[in-house]
Amino acid sequence: MKFYIETVGCQMNVLDSELASAELISAGWERAESRKDATLVVFNTCSVREHAEEKIYSALGRLKHWKAQKPGSLIAVMGCMAQKDQSRIFKRAPNVDVVCGPGQIDQLTTLVARAAATGEPQIATSVDRFVHKNDPKAVRESFRLYDPKRLKETRPRAFQAMVRIMFGCNKFCSYCIVPSVRGPEQSRPPKDILNEIGILADQGVVEIVLLGQTVNSYRYVEGDKTTRLSDLLAEIDKIPGIRRVRFVSSYPTDMTDDLLQAVRDLPSSTPYLHVPAQHGADSMLERMRRRYAVGQYKEMVDRIYETVPEAAITSDFIVGFCGETEEEFQQTVDLVRYARFKNSFIFKYSERPGNEAARTMADDVPEDVKKRRNNELLAVQNEISLAQSETFVGKTVEILVEGPSKKETKSLSDALIEESDAPSDKETDLTSVDQLLASSRASVFGERGDRAQMTGRTKCDRIVVFDGSRSLAGEFRKIKITSATPFTLCGKLVED
Ligand code: SAH
Ligand code: SF4
Ligand code: F3S
Repeated sequence: MKFYIETVGCQMNVLDSELASAELISAGWERAESRKDATLVVFNTCSVREHAEEKIYSALGRLKHWKAQKPGSLIAVMGCMAQKDQSRIFKRAPNVDVVCGPGQIDQLTTLVARAAATGEPQIATSVDRFVHKNDPKAVRESFRLYDPKRLKETRPRAFQAMVRIMFGCNKFCSYCIVPSVRGPEQSRPPKDILNEIGILADQGVVEIVLLGQTVNSYRYVEGDKTTRLSDLLAEIDKIPGIRRVRFVSSYPTDMTDDLLQAVRDLPSSTPYLHVPAQHGADSMLERMRRRYAVGQYKEMVDRIYETVPEAAITSDFIVGFCGETEEEFQQTVDLVRYARFKNSFIFKYSERPGNEAARTMADDVPEDVKKRRNNELLAVQNEISLAQSETFVGKTVEILVEGPSKKETKSLSDALIEESDAPSDKETDLTSVDQLLASSRASVFGERGDRAQMTGRTKCDRIVVFDGSRSLAGEFRKIKITSATPFTLCGKLVED
């Protein structure tokens, strides 16, 4: 009984794949090294753009052969597309046995067992939050899953861990599918989060990434006490062993002064801030139902650099959203130049069924125009990223060494952002967390023995490549930077 999970989408999905693996392993399943060796293939899916879904459906189609040759083999679809398409998945991909929504990961093993026993398709998803407005069932996700003891064996790197602090989203940006597939916004109780991080620290975790769709909107009210993200960061800072804390993604209007001061003052909080702007024109932000004007976003950028001068700000942008004119697009270019983002993830608008934009606005920017705008914005951003990277040449930075570089393995963080990081035609390559795990554990050394091209990250999340011993993975080291490209710094280990 071996399983193999393929993951697309955001960090939420990467974490969910870890949780699903933990569930399967605790039910007696073993991890397979490849799809070929597996009896159960799980696709953890994303619905944020159509392209992401098409990739999954075509991968499902291609598995027909695999399934025909392997009696007793099973295919499960979990994640956001499972919630969005529900039983329609069985119609479009008849070889699928299990459909499991992102709020039902704790039922995955039961569904798989039932499908195996009965040969009948099994499904568990959440109720529609719009239909069941006041139904507690609309508030989903199982907190039970967050048992970090089980997570240890499913984390690609023992010293890094993602911790979800919020579920769902209530912002309802007009273009977005996330609020309908991930459900209502909920903040996790601080004591659960702190308890989990405490156990992770005992396991040797030094770097924590806090996850939420609008992570800086975190707010937990208990009696007359309200805990905000800044309070949580202060509490996490007291946990011995935790050296770095990052949080993604932030919503611009919740980037409050108390949060920026926490980032500035707390030794463990890192100055990497992912605050998607989405667009640089007020008219478009209005149609996108973002709750700020460009002036407010710029004011926030000024405030970030004032409070945290070393901050690395990153953003997401959508080009070619409904009705976008050339002038409006140029305002996005202006904003990129103004904010001097470390980097931006740029997406061509993709209409998603059922949301406000799909219902009320025309997806009227031609594909070739979307593509050109995408490339133009990317070129501007690359120029800025390179200029920023170059300012590090000659300087010494502290990094957390992650492991052998991409040449030899695939970095976890790259896998995390694979979908959005790459220029957007290359979106959504399937990422196998299993492959990541296998390669990060690989102990077969090449002819250079213990030496390898190693990679690590600065506290601003800049990737640094250097030559060193594989045994440095998980350690903090100083590197003198000798050269730079837009997204990578190269340097030499500074021996103490
Ligand atoms: N919660 C995060 C983003 C989640 S989705 C946040 O608000 O920051 C990641 C990114 O995908 C978004 O920031 C947006 O830039 C992009 N995106 C969302 N819906 C999209 C759509 N319909 N078409 C193209 N890009 C989209
Ligand atoms: Fe989507 Fe907007 Fe929520 Fe982000 S804040 S998940 S873009 S609705
Ligand atoms: Fe993430 Fe995609 Fe779902 S971006 S929340 S996996 S729709």
